[in-house]
Parts: sequence; C-alpha cells; structure tokens
Amino acid sequence: MKKILFVTSEAYPLIKTGGLADVSGSLPLALTAQGHDVRILMPAYGDVMAELENVHTAVRIKQANSLIEIAEAHLPGSGVKVWLVAQPGVFDRRGNPYLGADGQPWADNAERFALLARIAVEIGLNRVGFRWKPDVVHCNDWQTGLVPPLLEDEPGRPATVFTIHNLAYQGVFPKETFKRLGLPQRFWSYNALEFYDQLCFMKGGLVFADRVNTVSPTYATEIQGDEFGCGMQGLLRQRSDRLSGIINGIDTAAWNPEGDPLIPHPFNATNLAGKRLNKAALRQRMGLDDSNSDALFASIGRLVQQKGIDLIIDILPELVKLPLQMVILGSGDKRYEQTLSQWAKLYPDRIAVSLGYDERLSHLIEAGADVFLMPSRFEPCGLNQMYSQRYGTVPIVRQVGGLADTVSDANATNRACGNASGIVFRDASESELLDAVLRALALYQEPTEWEKLRLAGMARDFSWQKSAAQYVSLYKLAIADRNRSTKTMLSLSASA
Ligand code: ADP
Ligand code: GLC
Repeated sequence: MKKILFVTSEAYPLIKTGGLADVSGSLPLALTAQGHDVRILMPAYGDVMAELENVHTAVRIKQANSLIEIAEAHLPGSGVKVWLVAQPGVFDRRGNPYLGADGQPWADNAERFALLARIAVEIGLNRVGFRWKPDVVHCNDWQTGLVPPLLEDEPGRPATVFTIHNLAYQGVFPKETFKRLGLPQRFWSYNALEFYDQLCFMKGGLVFADRVNTVSPTYATEIQGDEFGCGMQGLLRQRSDRLSGIINGIDTAAWNPEGDPLIPHPFNATNLAGKRLNKAALRQRMGLDDSNSDALFASIGRLVQQKGIDLIIDILPELVKLPLQMVILGSGDKRYEQTLSQWAKLYPDRIAVSLGYDERLSHLIEAGADVFLMPSRFEPCGLNQMYSQRYGTVPIVRQVGGLADTVSDANATNRACGNASGIVFRDASESELLDAVLRALALYQEPTEWEKLRLAGMARDFSWQKSAAQYVSLYKLAIADRNRSTKTMLSLSASA
C-alpha cells in the first residue's frame, strides 16, 4: 500500500475547467480501489467552499506571518479525503480558478500556486500535524511545479512524480516574481526554474521530479521533438530515461450510457434504441430540424486553437452543403464564439451553438450525436473521444497524442478485424478534415458498417484500472530513484 499526496488545482465535481479536473476526480478513486491511501490537496476556492458539505478546519499553520488553514472534506460521492488550502484573500474569490472576470489571469497567480506548493511540501514532510507522511507526492501541471524543487534537499523527503497534462501552459512569470516569492537563489539557473530570463513553474516539475510522465504514450514521444516540445524538448530529451506516458482513464460510473442520470434515455450496446431517442431529444433541445435522417455531428470543448476549432469553422461552408447537422458546445476565444454564433444564426435548423459550460448538455450531446469532431492540433490525451466511443458516437480525430492512442481508424484492415472505432486523419488541414467528414458520412450511409464502428467503440475498456496500476509502478520507480539520489547526497556530504 502506498500513501500518495495528489496535488492538483482542480478536481471534479468540486471545480472543473478541463480534463485535469476529470483526472483528479477519478484517478485517486481508482488508486483507492486498488488499496492505496490517497489524499487530494487543492486550493479552497470560493465556489468550492460555498458548495462543499461536511467540511471542517483540520489544522491552522503559520507561514511567514500569515495564518493558513487546511480544511478537510471528502470528494463528493467517494471516501477520498480532500485537503483544501485557505488563506484569506488568496483562493477565496468566486469564479474561474485562474482568471478574473476580465478573462485575464489573476495578477497574483504565482503567489497563489506557490502557496499551494509550500503547503504540499509541509504535508509531504509531515510537518503540519496530520501524522501522515506520503510515500509519493504526485504533482499535476504547472500550478504544482514548485513542489519538486522545494522538496529536493529536504532530508527524508517523499518521492515526487510530476504529470504533464498540457505542456503548452507552463506558468511563466517575470524575473521579479522569482525574487518576490523568496525562492532560493540557486533555483535561478537555466538548470532549474529560469526559462529565458523568466520564472517557469513547470520547469520545476520537469527538472526536479524523480519521475515525469504525461497523459498518453504518443504525447510523451511528441514533446521530445520540436513541433510539440513548447521549448522544453531539449530538457525532456535529457530526462527521457525518467519520462513516460500513461493514458488517462475515464470515470466509467459518471460516463455510463446505461445509468447516466444526465441523459433522458439510457441505452447500451445490445439496445441502441435509447440512442435514437437521445438524438431526437438533443435536436429538439438545440432547435434543430428533427424531421430528417441527417447525421448529427458534435463538438465539445475549449474554443481555442489547440482543439482545431478554426479548422471546423473553415470547413463550415462545405459542411452546410452536406446531409449533416452540427452541435457545438464550448467557450473560449471571443472571435471563435462570435463566428460560430453567426453561423448558427444563418442556419438555425442545421447548426446549433451553445456558448458556456454545461455539464448536463455535454452528456446529452455524447448520448445523442452520431459523430464527434475532435481535430486537435495537439492533444496530450483528450477525454471526449473516449466518452464518445463509450456512448456509441463515432469520433473523427487527428492522429496526435492521446487521440492516436485511443481511436482506431476505419481503414480496410481495422474494419476487417472488427477493431475500427472512428476516423483518424493526419494533417491539421481543412482538406484532410473535410475528407474525414466525407468518409464518416459514407460509412453512416451503410447502417451495418456504422453499427460495427459504434459497437467496437462501446466495447473498448477506457476504465482507470490498467492506467492506475501503471501509476503505482511509476510511484515505485520514483521511490527507487529518490532512494538513489538520497544515497548520492549522503555520500557527497560524507566526502566533503
Ligand atoms: P482539455 O482538458 O484540454 O480541455 P479534455 O478532452 O481532456 O480537454 O477534457 C475536457 C473536459 O471538459 C471534458 O470532460 C469535456 O466534456 C469538458 N468540457 C469542455 N468544455 C465544456 C463545456 N463547454 N461544457 C461542458 N463540458 C465541457
Ligand atoms: C489537458 C489536455 C488534455 C488532457 C487533460 C487531462 O487539459 O489538454 O488532452 O486530456 O489535460 O489529462
């Protein structure tokens, strides 16, 4: 049994801006089910504290003249303990965890997530009075990047694992911030937290963690090259013996077409009738024409370039000529939001757009759509293509990152062995995306073939079981690496 402190900036169902929350709300449960002792550490955001029931103050600690509280609760619907870091004026504002109402990052984000890291270190070293010392501190994304460097020199420290969910967001701040945070001067180095004369939180994880991983094997390879490395490719190549990829699982209880309380008509692989009814419900909900047999295409996600939403927009003039309808749910760049709204106004019975974040609608879309479009330029893992397959919705994906690892193309070979579960295309170009749409439509016209694709996707195992076991193996490797580095440190200090 391993004791794991899982440090994250968001966790479903408490707070979610993207897939990190889904992972933080499901991997700890899977690890617990496998007999491990996992505690989640996250900020006590205003919205979380307002909603959370049965929460109490576990400890109060003093740090640099301020009083910090660690509240304790359970992740709703589970027995997993959550610790929430609170300091007046720091995390207690309402709304998005990273951005103010103007859409800009909070000016004190560096201070906020440095605080989260410092508390992770205190708990990691069993210094807050919990009488619980983790074997491993599992850090996630840049918000937790300062944990491995701050733990590095501490005697008896736990091992550290740093998971990259998205290398494009690195937590980069001006040099003055480094000074303001009072970080040890030795970290101001190209080999530590400095990145082109700026402070980079993510580098802390990449340089100092005993083990680094990312959320799919393909992305783990891609980020060591120039196209996807976001400037970190050299460093990641240097650490390639400590870098691996573990594909995300999904919460198969929350995303279960047979028992999903957020969809009107449950269904399963042996009875797809409910899927047709969900399609009708979705069309009605979105004001789309429900009198034809057109294929219903859908897309859910952040409206940013990463997700290839611009490619979808670029082919809309062609899509409206085809026998298909389109539902888009998302929020993000204003220019994409505006363009999509204009298209929905022009073709109200063919294109429907819902701007904003809507958990319930996202389930209805997965349940009711025929095809899910995910033409990402890069995708560390991606979750919606897995939700789609589980709900019998055929994904069209670009062959990158986790999309490449979780969808099998409907080529002749894969179809012959019954393994095809979607349409996979290579280049981020309008012509390839359009070609993929046409391939999907052709298969949609052949009901037997289409059903095979659907059923192959529904039969896939996207549960956390295998990946959680891989994380446990990674924790063991991290502990062994930590032991080795401690020995080296001891022998260095003995010979000094
Ligand atoms: P990323 O984390 O890069 O945004 P993922 O595919 O890993 O992408 O995860 C995104 C998660 O957020 C999925 O669970 C998806 O359903 C959800 N999501 C994204 N946008 C919305 C939205 N507008 N409404 C509801 N859920 C959304
Ligand atoms: C990031 C990535 C996404 C991944 C998610 C969870 O937000 O963009 O691909 O699925 O993290 O790991």
